[in-house]
Amino acid sequence: MVKESSPFTPGVPVPIDFFVGRRTEIERLVQSVREVGGGKQRNVFLAGERGIGKSSLARVVRFLARRDHDLLCVQVLLGGVADLGEMVRRILERLVNDSRGQVWYDKVAELFGKRVREVGVLGVTLSFESPSEELEDLVRSFVPALRRILERIRGQKKGLLLALDDVNGLAEKPAFANWLKSVIDEIALSEEPVPFLLLLIATEERREELIQHNPSIARVFDVVDIHTLSAEESEDFFRRAFDRARLKVEPDAQRVLVQAAGGFPALLHELGDAVYWLDKDGVVTESDAYAGVLEAADRIGRKYVQPRVIREIHSRRHRAILHKLVAGGLATSIRRRDLATRLSAEENRVLDNFFGRMRKLGVLIPDPDGEPGSYRFANQLLEIYLWMEGQRARAVRAEAPSAAGKGK
Ligand SMILES: Nc1ncnc2c1ncn2[C@@H]1O[C@H](COP(=O)(O)OP(=O)(O)OP(=O)(O)O)[C@@H](O)[C@H]1O
Ligand SMILES: [Mg+2]
Repeated sequence: MVKESSPFTPGVPVPIDFFVGRRTEIERLVQSVREVGGGKQRNVFLAGERGIGKSSLARVVRFLARRDHDLLCVQVLLGGVADLGEMVRRILERLVNDSRGQVWYDKVAELFGKRVREVGVLGVTLSFESPSEELEDLVRSFVPALRRILERIRGQKKGLLLALDDVNGLAEKPAFANWLKSVIDEIALSEEPVPFLLLLIATEERREELIQHNPSIARVFDVVDIHTLSAEESEDFFRRAFDRARLKVEPDAQRVLVQAAGGFPALLHELGDAVYWLDKDGVVTESDAYAGVLEAADRIGRKYVQPRVIREIHSRRHRAILHKLVAGGLATSIRRRDLATRLSAEENRVLDNFFGRMRKLGVLIPDPDGEPGSYRFANQLLEIYLWMEGQRARAVRAEAPSAAGKGK
């Protein structure tokens, strides 16, 4: 069987066809969309950990708001942005771009005059003659600018949905929190309705950081937070995606994959993709699934665990404890007192510290089913990866005397 393209999309928001779950959250978000369609202003904070599916959910809501509620919908990626001027420039640029081909395009583009530059098939860019001053002005007069845009799309669109995606960098700045608050206040005080839905997307920690900068943020934003998917939703996802790829999946294989993913959307895709390419005969068996788990663990390790976990563990003793923790094979629950018996006195002295650090890094979580002082891995792939790393390190050590100089 020749494989052409995987239906799995690790690392990018999921196509609507393969989107699963999030019913309650969609309903809540659509409720806000409806109110905005009726002329109100609403603010929602979409929170959740990295890779949990925030951008994907926002995309679905954007799709529904456009299709069923006549809103102009814009999602702006602000990942690397930490400056308000640049933020506003990107918002407006996205708005102009997303208006291309629409009847209101000229009316909206006209607002920016010669600052709009067509760059062929790529779309338009907005560039300013004296960027810092003009952009600072736009930051300050964001609400009037918004109002003018809404005027120009009136009759075609009932309002605007603006999703500011990945405001992690901006959330560090007190100026951003204060800007948000003043924009919202200004709209609230205005005589005319401003049909505008502001959807902020970031992790829960960033939301808390914003609240520290400006406590009113807690009050003015409704919070929609998303967590892992259920086993049924994960199954549904695999079924749809493998069906599309015309692969048959045996029930045992399905079970292995669902369990390994632990409901993390990003892991569903990594696992599915690994299995898709590993399988050779169009039937995914349990052993294909296990091979996929190892492959996915390896990929995830390199992409997420290395940069976010391994490199963050600076203490030699913490590393040693982690190795000993996984050396005994995969365990469902980790009992502190069992681990302690395998550690040196020196390592035991930093054990509290170690558990604190691992919790902070999202590696271990308290085991709700275990006795007090027991933990488990936040997800199984993480554990498998660490175990593989340990095995590799051991293999390298064993080979080292005779195979010195042969590389890894
Ligand atoms: N509901 C879903 N159904 C199926 N796949 C999903 C779903 N939500 C997310 N995914 C997939 O999970 C991965 C992560 O999703 P997404 O990029 O939306 O997460 P995110 O929370 O925005 O992550 P980040 O914090 O890194 O921006 C992607 O591969 C995406 O395709
Ligand atoms: Mg995202």
